[in-house]
Amino acid sequence: MINRCCVSAVLSLALCASVFGQEPIRYLAEKKLWVLDTNTTSYVFGVNERNQLQHMYWGKRLWRDADLAADHSLGEWSSFDGVASTTPGEYAGWGSNMYTEPCLKVTLQDGNRDLVLRYVSHEIHGDRLEVVTKDIQYDLFAHLHYRVYPGAGIIEKHAVVENRTSQPITIESAQAGTWYLPPGDGYRLSYLNGRWAGETQLVQEDIHPGLKILESRRGTTSHQTNPWFAIDAPEGNGSDQEHGPVWFGALGWSGSWRFSIEQTPHQQVRVTGGYNTFDFAYPINPGERLETPPFYGGFTSHGFGEASRMLHRFAREFILPGGLSAKPRPVLYNSWEATEFNVDEPGQKALAEKAARIGIERFVMDDGWFGARNDDHAGLGDWYVNPKKFPNGLQPLIRYVNSLGMDFGLWVEPEMVNPNSDLYRKHPDWAMNFPGRPRTEARNQLVLNMAREDVKEYTFAWLDNLVTENNIAFLKWDMNRNFSEPGWPEAGPANEKKIWVKYVSNLYEIIDRLRAKHPKLEIESCSGGGGRVDLGIMKRVDEAWTSDNTEAFDRLRIQEGFSYPYPAQVMMAWVTDVPNYNGRSTPLQYRFLVAMMGSLGIGNNLNKWTNADFALATQMIAYYKTIRGTVEQGRLYRLFSPRAGDLTANQYVSEDGKQSVLFAFLRAQQYGRPTPTIRLRGLDERAVYRVRALDGSKLVEKLETASGAYLQNHGLNLLLTGDYDSTSVLLERVE
Ligand code: GLA
Repeated sequence: MINRCCVSAVLSLALCASVFGQEPIRYLAEKKLWVLDTNTTSYVFGVNERNQLQHMYWGKRLWRDADLAADHSLGEWSSFDGVASTTPGEYAGWGSNMYTEPCLKVTLQDGNRDLVLRYVSHEIHGDRLEVVTKDIQYDLFAHLHYRVYPGAGIIEKHAVVENRTSQPITIESAQAGTWYLPPGDGYRLSYLNGRWAGETQLVQEDIHPGLKILESRRGTTSHQTNPWFAIDAPEGNGSDQEHGPVWFGALGWSGSWRFSIEQTPHQQVRVTGGYNTFDFAYPINPGERLETPPFYGGFTSHGFGEASRMLHRFAREFILPGGLSAKPRPVLYNSWEATEFNVDEPGQKALAEKAARIGIERFVMDDGWFGARNDDHAGLGDWYVNPKKFPNGLQPLIRYVNSLGMDFGLWVEPEMVNPNSDLYRKHPDWAMNFPGRPRTEARNQLVLNMAREDVKEYTFAWLDNLVTENNIAFLKWDMNRNFSEPGWPEAGPANEKKIWVKYVSNLYEIIDRLRAKHPKLEIESCSGGGGRVDLGIMKRVDEAWTSDNTEAFDRLRIQEGFSYPYPAQVMMAWVTDVPNYNGRSTPLQYRFLVAMMGSLGIGNNLNKWTNADFALATQMIAYYKTIRGTVEQGRLYRLFSPRAGDLTANQYVSEDGKQSVLFAFLRAQQYGRPTPTIRLRGLDERAVYRVRALDGSKLVEKLETASGAYLQNHGLNLLLTGDYDSTSVLLERVE
C-alpha cells in the first residue's frame, strides 16, 4: 500500500541553507500542518480530515513548505486493521478500533473507557508549540507540548492530561509521545542493557514486526535498561560511527518508564515512551492534571558518533545545572573502597593529607559517618554524626580538608531506612508497605515512601540542616535498592498507585529546593553505581556514578555504552586498587587513562601506595587537568570499540578545535602483531598540530608536529605491547 506521508517526505529531501532565517515552528494553515525545524532536522505533523493529529515526517531538514501535502488518514487495510491502526496518530488515545500502542488510556468513573482525541487549538511561542486536543465527547483534554532546540537538532515533547469533566478519571497509560520513523523494513535498534556492576552494555538488534518493550518496573531508572534508544537505517550494513542516518531519543524520568518499539504489519516503526503502564493507575479529579515526563528526540545523517555528540552538547547546554558555563569537574578522592564503613576523624584526615599531595580538589567521605552505621545492617535513617567516630562533629575534618585546599563532600542515602534504626522504630509506616504483609529487605534496608508529604518534608529538613551547618560542597546521593511492596496505605486504595509518579516528583522537589537554598551545592546521582542515570535526574545533579564496578577493563564497555547518550562531564570514573572485581590486575597508568575519559576520581587506599604510585598519580592528575576541558566538554569520537577487538581508542576534540586528546588501550598483543593504525577524527585537515605522547617511545613515527590531513588519513601508529598497555596522545593546534 502506498504511504502518502512517505511519498511527500521523500520528494522533499533536498536541503537548502537559505531557509535558516525561518521560524523554527510554523503552522501552514491551508494544509493544517506544523513544521518544527532545527538547523539540521525537520519534524512535521498535521490535522487530518478526521480532525485528528497525524504524524508526517521526522528526519533530515526539509526546506520547501510547498512540498508538503495536507495530511489524510491512511485507508483501512481490512476489517482487522482500520484507520485507527494504519494511520500514524501523533498522540493517540486508546479508543475506537486502535490496536497499536496508545499515548493515553483512561477509565472514567461512569465506566467509559473509549477515548478519541481531536484537535481543538494551538499556540506557537517562538521555539514552543502547544497543541490542545480533546475527547469527542468528554471534557478530557490532552495538551501536547513541543519545544525545538534549533542548534542542538533536538525536539522535546511531553503531554499534560487535564480533567475538565465533573467526574474523576483514572489514567492507565500516559506517554510523552510517539516517535515515527519513515515507513520501512530492516531497521536496527540500539539500546543499553545491564545489571549492577555491569551497566550500560550496548545491545544492537534488528527490528522485526511485533512489539519490543524496554522498561524499568523498579520505581527508578534502573541498572538493567537505560531510557535511551537509537535506530539506524535500513540501507547497506546500517550506520556506523560517522556515517548514516540515526534517529534517537531519551526520556527525562527517574521512575518506572517504558519504551514500546513497534513495527506494525504495515512497516511502520514507532517508539512510544513515558510512564510505565505496569501497575499504573493515576486518578485525576475534576480540575486536576497529570504531566508526563519529557521525551527528547533527534536525528542525524552522520552516524552514532554525531548522535552522541548532539546529545552530549544538548545535555550540557539545556539539561545539566550550570549549562555551558559549568566549570570542568573537580578531581575528587573518595574513601569508600579504601575504608568502607571504617571512617573516623584521624583516618579521614590521614587520607585527606595524602590526597591533597597528588592534586585532589575535592575530598569525599562515603558511607559510615552517621548513626550506628558500622556495616550495612543499621543506621540508615539516623542522619546524625556518629559520636564515636567523630566526637567533635564533622567540622574539624571539614576545616582540615579545606585547609589543604580541597572542598568537602559527603555520602547520603536519603530515601532509605534500615529497620535497625531509630527512624524506623519511630515511624515504621514511613517505609512503603502493604499492611500486614512482609517487607522485603535488600541490603538490609527498606524504601522510605517519598510520595508522603511528611517523609518529603522530613527529608528536606535534615538535608537542609546538614548543608546549612557544615561547609559541604557536594553530596553523593545514593539509592541502593529498588522498590518492593510499593504500598501507600494512607493514600487509600484509589490513589495508592500514584506512588510511582509522586515518589519521583517529590524526590525532584527535594533536590530542587535544596539546590535553590544552597546554590553552590553540587550533587552526584548514585544508585549502587549507575542505577539512576537519565535526563530527568540530570536536570538537578552535576554528575552520575557510572558503576560500582571500577575495574578498568570492564569499565571500557560500561563507559562506551554510557557515552552513547551521556557526556563525559557527568561520567564519574575512579582509579581504584587491584585486583578488583573479576580478580583482574591492570597497571596503574592503564587505570588512570581509563578513568580520565570521564570525570576523574581516585578511590585507592592511599595508605598502601608506594612512592612510585604517588609520583605517577601526581603526573597523571596534572596531565588530566590540562585536558579535562576537552574530555568533559569536547566532542567525542569513538574510534575503536572494546566490543570489536583488542584495541580500544577514543578521541576528544575541544569545542574550539585547539586541543585534541587520544586514549588508546590494548588488551593483549599477539607477539609481533602491530597495533592497528588509528586514524583521527574531528581535526582541521589544513591545520598543524603539535604531537605529544604521554610516553614518546610508544609513537612509531617520532612526530613533533603533524597536519590534520596526515593524522586523519595516514593516522597514528602506536607501539602497544603485552597485556593492558595504554597511552595517550595530546594534540595542540599550532598553525
Ligand atoms: C553504593 C555506592 C558505593 C558506596 C556504597 C556505600 O554501593 O554505589 O559507591 O557509596 O553504596 O555503602
